[in-house]
Amino acid sequence: MIGMRQRSFLGLLKSNFRRRGAESAVRWHRAQYLEQRASAADDQGREAGRLSRNYYDLVTDLYEYGWGEKFHFGVRRRGEGLESSLVRHELRLAEGLGLKPGMQVLDLGCGIGGPMRNIARATGARVLGVNINGYQVRRARELNRAAGLEGETGLIECDWMQLPLAAETIDAAYAIEATCHAGDRGALFRQIHRVLKRRAYIMGYEWCLTENYDPYNPLHCRDRAGIEEGSGLPSLTTRQDIEQAIRGNGFELIECRDLAPECDPETPWYLPLKGDGFSSQALKRSHLGGIALQGMVAALEHTRILPHGAGAVVRLLRLCGDSLVRAGEAGTFTPLLFFHARKRDGDFNGD
Ligand SMILES: C[S@@+](CC[C@H](N)C(=O)[O-])C[C@H]1O[C@@H](n2cnc3c(N)ncnc32)[C@H](O)[C@@H]1O
Repeated sequence: MIGMRQRSFLGLLKSNFRRRGAESAVRWHRAQYLEQRASAADDQGREAGRLSRNYYDLVTDLYEYGWGEKFHFGVRRRGEGLESSLVRHELRLAEGLGLKPGMQVLDLGCGIGGPMRNIARATGARVLGVNINGYQVRRARELNRAAGLEGETGLIECDWMQLPLAAETIDAAYAIEATCHAGDRGALFRQIHRVLKRRAYIMGYEWCLTENYDPYNPLHCRDRAGIEEGSGLPSLTTRQDIEQAIRGNGFELIECRDLAPECDPETPWYLPLKGDGFSSQALKRSHLGGIALQGMVAALEHTRILPHGAGAVVRLLRLCGDSLVRAGEAGTFTPLLFFHARKRDGDFNGD
């Protein structure tokens, strides 16, 4: 298997930062983020794809180093390990959608395909991953092949705003912590509506602000901005906006609720970022691991072993992690907004 373990840590860092000039890419990221924050919603929609593509060029190897093959959180029950809770979180969607052999399913924003492989393996359905980031698509393809799942999976490198799929050809769709990258969520749901078969289902987990978020509280605003910039997002929104984007674009909303309260209080969703034990894997994801990585990368950047900008990328990830933990503790944000919807019958035309 072509896993991270076969690459040295230095090799991983070099590949992460050389894929794209880190310095200019991280500068572009900041400028783009600030511009989006100041721009109207329509403009955010247009630029969100570029923001995601650039962001995941900068961070994908580091994500894989910390999180393995899945880039999402999950609901962890008492005594449950992180990895098994994440697999269960993925399979909850597969079960809810009733996936089975013969079905063709979309994984919108599939990352490097960890969830797609689990779901294809568990259900026998054929899972098509959609992803705007070419590096992630290549990595997912490599891992699918290594897992012997080439036949059960497929990958489409595209912006989900222009899905290159014929109308009414897909049996079901899911999205795990990905649709928060859409600048115009309504337009995305119209695309999904177009490709889904009649009365087909979509399920997913969304990132959103909770009712505890107060736009006049400077600490809440700071954490929101840190999550957006550190995760390459256009703009976080509320549950009401997400529900409206689903309902207003050809779907009947069956359920929409925050699963964060289902987490065992001792293992909230953000615990891996805060520090969850002392195994080497747990340390990599944690606040302390971030500090250590930043020190190491700064030294390697200083001695020109890593290119300029490498340290800024690690700072971006630390901004993201620290902001997520603070917002999670304050209860102003959740990455676990579960939604379940069905394509509505009728003459709604999603084109
Ligand atoms: C946080 S990652 C989640 C990855 C995956 N669902 C998982 O759980 O491992 C978000 C994903 O959405 C993808 N994405 C963001 N914007 C996109 C767009 N406009 N079109 C297609 N994919 C997009 C990113 O490239 C990335 O793979």
